Amino acid sequence: MSTIILGIESSCDDTSAAVIKDGFLLSNVVANQAVHESYGGVVPELASRAHQQNIVPVVHEALKRAGVSKEELSAVAFTRGPGLMGSLLVGVSFAKGFARSLGVPMIDVNHLVGHVLAHFIKAEGDENKHPSLPFLCLLVSGGNSQIILVKSHSQMEIIGQTIDDAAGEAIDKCSKVMGLGYPGGPIIDKLARQGNPEAFKFNKPHIQGYDYSFSGLKTSFLYSLKDWIKEDLNFIENNINDLAASLEKTVVDILMDKLKKAAKAYGIKDVAVAGGVSANTGLRNAFLDHAKRFGWNVFIPKFAYTTDNAAMIAMSGYLKYQDNDFATIDMPAYSRVSLK
Ligand code: KG4
Repeated sequence: MSTIILGIESSCDDTSAAVIKDGFLLSNVVANQAVHESYGGVVPELASRAHQQNIVPVVHEALKRAGVSKEELSAVAFTRGPGLMGSLLVGVSFAKGFARSLGVPMIDVNHLVGHVLAHFIKAEGDENKHPSLPFLCLLVSGGNSQIILVKSHSQMEIIGQTIDDAAGEAIDKCSKVMGLGYPGGPIIDKLARQGNPEAFKFNKPHIQGYDYSFSGLKTSFLYSLKDWIKEDLNFIENNINDLAASLEKTVVDILMDKLKKAAKAYGIKDVAVAGGVSANTGLRNAFLDHAKRFGWNVFIPKFAYTTDNAAMIAMSGYLKYQDNDFATIDMPAYSRVSLK
């Protein structure tokens, strides 16, 4: 008999539902929330209200596109955390109620684990190659910058992480300083393609081990800009592409430097990247470059799996289903949590 999992994701500002059948993705529907754009960041109360409006139509659409009826579902997987509490509550409550009404098990998924396990999603017509265990995964998003040693689907160890800001957060803040829109990551990426990455130098951190720090870069960027603007009032406009390219290069260099050290120390050749910042062209190119130079087998997710999506939650749920690892109705959402 087939195993069909409905996955639900509502940790931040995307409402998403996906269906996975025997490990193969059948549908992945994402409703974005444009309402936050004019505020320059996600407004939690508005996010939960939008989830309330979106959750039923999004789940309905995911089932429809998958050609699956709700009675055929084997289990309902949901993001339990970390994330915004109000947003999580919508998905968690819906998933629990839906699973209960269908009489099927519910499966709680850690959002960060979901990003890592996105590498195991299979889809009809895709190459469907996935990393061999153990592998290293660089998880980089607006809230996280971590190097994770993935020993199995259920056993992961964070061997390095940011001690202050996340990489995406630093890029977004620097972009805000330059008066660009939100989120800054995709804008910086686009501008950087036209710029010279060697044009400007910004401070890089000196942190022991495999940990990261990005708050110094943010400060260095801000103070350098202030100095340059004293000389030329239109400095930002005149140098926007070079600024974006140099900022991107600095972030990518910082990320890859520690990842390279970790891969060497752990003797690992399978290296993956995940999270919103993995959409970045400079970072993707750096992965391809490291594959050539160091013989790494690199795993770069499809764009659809880089940002928040329910496909990765359904996949994680599918793997937990194989282990009979189910949630209970009394499990609350959690806003902050590490990998496990
Ligand atoms: O994983 P994610 O969607 O969710 C949160 O962590 O909230 O990551 C969002 C982050 C933001 O900081 C955004 O600016 C960054 O990912 N991002 C990018 C790109 N696309 C999204 N950063 C650099 N280049 C991109 N192309």
